[in-house]
Amino acid sequence: MANQTQVGGPISPLLTPYKLGNFNLSHRVVLAPMGRQRSYGHVPQPHAILYYSQRTSNGGLLITEATGVSDTAQGYTDTPGIWTKEQVEAWKPIVDAVHAKGGIFFCQILHVGRVSNTGFQPNGQAPISSTEKLIPLNGIDVSEFTPPRRLRTDEIPQIVNDFKLAARNAMEAGFDGVEIHGAHGYLIDQFTKDQVNDRADQYGGSMENRCRFVLEVVEAVANEIGADKVGIRLSPFANYMESGDSDPEALGLYLANSLNKYGIVYCHMVEPRMKTIGEKSECPHSLVPMRKAFNGTFIAAGGYDMEEGNNGVADGHADLIAYGRIFLANPDLPKRFELNAPLNKYNRETFYASEPLIGYTDYPFLETTP
Ligand SMILES: Cc1cc2nc3c(=O)[nH]c(=O)nc-3n(C[C@H](O)[C@H](O)[C@H](O)COP(=O)(O)O)c2cc1C
Repeated sequence: MANQTQVGGPISPLLTPYKLGNFNLSHRVVLAPMGRQRSYGHVPQPHAILYYSQRTSNGGLLITEATGVSDTAQGYTDTPGIWTKEQVEAWKPIVDAVHAKGGIFFCQILHVGRVSNTGFQPNGQAPISSTEKLIPLNGIDVSEFTPPRRLRTDEIPQIVNDFKLAARNAMEAGFDGVEIHGAHGYLIDQFTKDQVNDRADQYGGSMENRCRFVLEVVEAVANEIGADKVGIRLSPFANYMESGDSDPEALGLYLANSLNKYGIVYCHMVEPRMKTIGEKSECPHSLVPMRKAFNGTFIAAGGYDMEEGNNGVADGHADLIAYGRIFLANPDLPKRFELNAPLNKYNRETFYASEPLIGYTDYPFLETTP
């Protein structure tokens, strides 16, 4: 797409409007989902009202931090959920604040699967997964894991149902849609990736079988709230939490093609270069084949700066670009891109602090001239 021009100069591609299904976006700078671990007892807190509304622009798309679908879905301290009435009620003022500023707000719904331990599980039971294989402790992740229990085939519909109910709850809370978290080594990824999935039933073995679970979740959620309100996040190339695949390109392509059947509004993929958390490494793979295969909106994320985002939109690599760390540290990121203004630096130390405000709602906005 060529740069559009208007009186006063060229508009950068990231700042052009875009129609995301039924939603009219005024620009293409998306807030990436980011867990901030400040939802005490898995209940969203009032300080999230300010956090999300600070990052809202009129016509901007925001995706929430990963939000648990059920009481077996959690694996981190103080991450929010959306399976109880209390949680749904607590989300409402947060969603209202984003809407009041004209934002479009999707809730990322998650089940962590084996990225958990008995302490997070009801009655101290084992975390559930596609497998019984424990995540090897690699010194990077702060959580400690306990051996998972492989879901029986007849239990899988219940987990699919948990995603469906969470999506229904998200709509009840006022969200515009949900993003199914199928990335980063969590439950869905534990089914799709052959490094983890060692099942012998119809949910394991071939790529088609390994993708059965995620596609059942997509279908159930789309039937429940409407495909126009459903997105998905995938990271076929990543191997967080020991969830690599022997043929990520074929897996990503298979998923992108299969998703077309359900007509969901977007597919959000993490760049292959984001193999480890927060580190960019050059790699020969590309999302282009998946982008070409998927019929809906394509969002790319992972290590983008302004220039790369503009190039990515201009050359058709993606329709929208999701920004994580620099949006966390720059609540007015789209405005800064518009003015080509300098960015605040993010402070990794406070990414997951339980202190509500430090490193959360205290990053400065641009000084505006009177
Ligand atoms: C503090 C923090 C929390 C994150 N939490 C989530 C999450 O809840 N769900 C998710 O899909 N990705 C999560 N991510 C990954 C980001 O969405 C994003 O893909 C990653 O930071 C790379 O993009 P960036 O280079 O723009 O930061 C998180 C990243 C950070 C830094």
